[in-house]
Amino acid sequence: MEPKVCERPIGVFDSGVGGISILRELVRELPHEDFVFYGDSAHAPYGEKTSEEVVSLTSDVAQKLLDMGCKALVIACNTATSAAAPVLRKTYSHMPIVGVEPALKPAVLAKHHGKVLVMATPMTVRLEKFQKLLRTWGSEEDVVAVPCGGLAARIEQGNVDAPDVVALIDSLVGAYAGRVDTVVLGCTHYPFVREQIREVLGDVAFFDSAQGTARQLRRRLSSAQKLNNTQAQGRVEFFSSKDTKEELALYRQFFEWSKTL
Ligand code: DGL
Repeated sequence: MEPKVCERPIGVFDSGVGGISILRELVRELPHEDFVFYGDSAHAPYGEKTSEEVVSLTSDVAQKLLDMGCKALVIACNTATSAAAPVLRKTYSHMPIVGVEPALKPAVLAKHHGKVLVMATPMTVRLEKFQKLLRTWGSEEDVVAVPCGGLAARIEQGNVDAPDVVALIDSLVGAYAGRVDTVVLGCTHYPFVREQIREVLGDVAFFDSAQGTARQLRRRLSSAQKLNNTQAQGRVEFFSSKDTKEELALYRQFFEWSKTL
């Protein structure tokens, strides 16, 4: 028998392991839902491609998740949301599609003094969606946005405790040490290197999009009457375009780790 729509899984995707930092919060917020996570690690990083390439890649991933019977989609990637959310929402207008954006608004509203540093992929920083957010919530004196080329790709490799990660972060944002007190993690990969960022920038407050995205997903499912009303614990399944045992083991490792962050 076909499962009822509300019993179907929620599809969550990213260019790779980063989306797992969002997935962890979705599971916390909606423990009775089933989730299918798809990482497009074979094509990561998205943030250094053209937006046309990202639209094409994410359209393929969205179609795969739909073919698996997903009732809703979460684009757990700032880059893919900026480049492709409008196209996906047009193509799949019958289903809730939730995206993510850098948590600049809560960071600006919460900060006490000093500057806010937004770290994001080159594409996220460049595209109009973020530029508009910046015009709305930031001023040049208060907010600085730094494209962090290479960082998501390095996190994809795992082993983020290795010294080269701190060296890379230092080369990207080290110039802001002591000049910012708040950091917006504008790429879903970056929560996994929070400690390394702190090593470079000192004692800063972090903002990411995970909780806001989880609450938004709950709202969207509720208004579409697609919340799963079971009391059973939901399941999480992992898929990757880099379909090897090692890659899927890496995803599970990031998922377990994300629960401790
Ligand atoms: N995790 C993604 C984001 O939030 C994409 C990183 C990448 O593939 O460049 O932007």
